[in-house]
Amino acid sequence: MSSKTGQSLVLKELEALFSESKSSVQQGLEACCSLLRERYDHYDWVGFYFADFKSKTLHLKAFSGQPTEHTSIPFGKGICGQVAVSNQNFMVPDVQEQENYIACSISVRSELVVPLFFKGENIGQIDIDSNQKDPFSSEDEQLLEACCALISETYGSSLLSL
Ligand code: SME
Repeated sequence: MSSKTGQSLVLKELEALFSESKSSVQQGLEACCSLLRERYDHYDWVGFYFADFKSKTLHLKAFSGQPTEHTSIPFGKGICGQVAVSNQNFMVPDVQEQENYIACSISVRSELVVPLFFKGENIGQIDIDSNQKDPFSSEDEQLLEACCALISETYGSSLLSL
């Protein structure tokens, strides 16, 4: 199976999961984290942070993997905080080479963060940690962009009151 076919199957699975849990954003996000972590060997931790624009912080709303103490991250801090400000994907092949990085676990080697937009505004992000060095490619970015777009379409403004 090509990775493109694999990706579209995962997106179909996500659509099915979201239509089952259409009324509960929380359940949808949690199901998404678990599914992605299960389907991809290099996804060791998957989580969603959402922005609180008043306090300029990100808050962890759903995750799959080891619990983290970093449930709240100021804009600008770490990889996640930088994405809150830049509105761009941030792929980190080797976290040891990043100065502005918040370590959640010593086993993490790399990270990929992709913003989630609602009506053109960066309201949150999906964060993937991997215990492998340099495992991510543009295919991961495409998958996570599609996943964030699907969440935005499915849950819309309820994402703003998480
Ligand atoms: N490493 C992230 C913090 C979140 S944890 O990966 C769960 C960062 O530097 O923003």
